[in-house]
Amino acid sequence: MKNILLVDDDKDLSSSLANLFDSDKFSFQFLEDGTGVVDFVGDHENLDLVMLDVNLPTISGLEVLKDLKERNASLPVIVISGFVSTENAMEAMREGAFEYLTKPFDIERLINTVNKACSQSQQSKSPFTSPVEEQESAEMDEIIGSSSEIVEIAKMVGQVAKTDAAVLIFGESGTGKELVARAIHRNSKRNNNAFLSVNCAALHETLLESELFGHEKGAFTGAYYKRIGKFEQAHSGSLFLDEIGDMSMLTQSKLLRVLQEKKFERVGGNESIDANVRIIAATNKSLVQLMKEGSFRVDLFYRLKVFSIYIPPLRERRSDISILIAHFNTLFSQQLGQPEKTIPKSIMQDLFKYQWPGNVRELENNIHTALVKSKGEKLEREDFPAFDLEESVQEDQTGLLESDYTESFDKLIKPIMPQMIDAYPGKIYHMMEAAFEKSVISACLEYYNGNQVKASETLGISRNTLRDRIARFEIY
Ligand SMILES: Nc1ncnc2c1ncn2[C@@H]1O[C@H](COP(=O)(O)OP(=O)(O)OP(=O)(O)O)[C@@H](O)[C@H]1O
Ligand SMILES: [Mg+2]
Repeated sequence: MKNILLVDDDKDLSSSLANLFDSDKFSFQFLEDGTGVVDFVGDHENLDLVMLDVNLPTISGLEVLKDLKERNASLPVIVISGFVSTENAMEAMREGAFEYLTKPFDIERLINTVNKACSQSQQSKSPFTSPVEEQESAEMDEIIGSSSEIVEIAKMVGQVAKTDAAVLIFGESGTGKELVARAIHRNSKRNNNAFLSVNCAALHETLLESELFGHEKGAFTGAYYKRIGKFEQAHSGSLFLDEIGDMSMLTQSKLLRVLQEKKFERVGGNESIDANVRIIAATNKSLVQLMKEGSFRVDLFYRLKVFSIYIPPLRERRSDISILIAHFNTLFSQQLGQPEKTIPKSIMQDLFKYQWPGNVRELENNIHTALVKSKGEKLEREDFPAFDLEESVQEDQTGLLESDYTESFDKLIKPIMPQMIDAYPGKIYHMMEAAFEKSVISACLEYYNGNQVKASETLGISRNTLRDRIARFEIY
């Protein structure tokens, strides 16, 4: 016989839930409030499982979970919630919940979970107490969404945050990799210490190494002063290595050594320094592909990927779109000091259908721009940049998508040539060449929301060339 305590203020739901189980094998007891749960559990040592609703009349189910886990960490607790909240999901898993389930229940999943939890509890009945750290989750940086994908991600964040394991986050640009990395740090026991991030794609090899490990005075040309690197600055905290796929092989091997030995030296120095940082890495490239090509180390991959989190693109979890829109509408309206605007249904439908190649970041930018541009109380279609882009691609009024571009450029250049001859004799060729290059590069960067890796790949130029042009043409 398995003994289960079910804590929920909805009596009808409790009894119908209990009726799903064979009464010869499962015995249910019920409480309608959280206040008596800890005492009840103390008095009933034969309990195999507690099922806790989050929303209880006098005390939150999550508080009860904490109290229970402090007293008996091995008694499984399933947290159930009436609505989807990524913060609750994260917190429940972080505090050691066996599972987090949302109503209405997927019955098969519910039964499976209860069975699994009960058999786990049979295996280990050794109580122990451990102090649980108190921490409030910041509202900023909240992971918004209600799709099953995003809830799973929130749960993984809660689980992995408790450990010191390295985490690898992958997903397309703008899907929220950095947001998830911050959530891991915020929910971890390192959250009183620094969360620092390093973009591995933005720096050349030497500079990246000095950024990571620091350098001694005179270590290389230009190293006028000693510098403390991010590994040292983030001591006892977390270090976010963004765009890890762009790290050179040499830097990869140095990073691997630090991860293995938990020690490093500043560039040009020989003092050995302890590395106590939690590594969270992110990439929008396929590391598997890079390993096949020989440009990413397999051993480093496994070091970084002790735990991995994949964030699917927004178009594959469209049920998050409307809640994100509502969130950004509130957020930016507050920032702009204006009332929230309504979004007509037809526009909502279009936003819902759009592909969002730049994912949540693109959606965020669209709502922001629309709120800034809009003059009335309602947002209009033309306030949204996404549709401009879509239309120009679809309708191609310029004719530029035809394979022979000469004709299209002729149309642009011929009319202005006489003025140019007057204004810039002797310079026209180089000016126009630069103008053309600048337009192409900025358009491509804009399309990828400033993602240099994607832009350089798509343009077919090296990242070094791209960076050089960005600096030369002062793009941005
Ligand atoms: N689920 C979400 N809820 C709320 N905001 C989100 C969510 N996902 C992403 N965002 C927002 O979208 C923007 C992009 O997110 P983030 O920078 O974390 O993406 P990324 O995956 O690191 O992108 P890139 O690969 O381009 O660096 C941020 O402003 C972030 O706050
Ligand atoms: Mg990022």
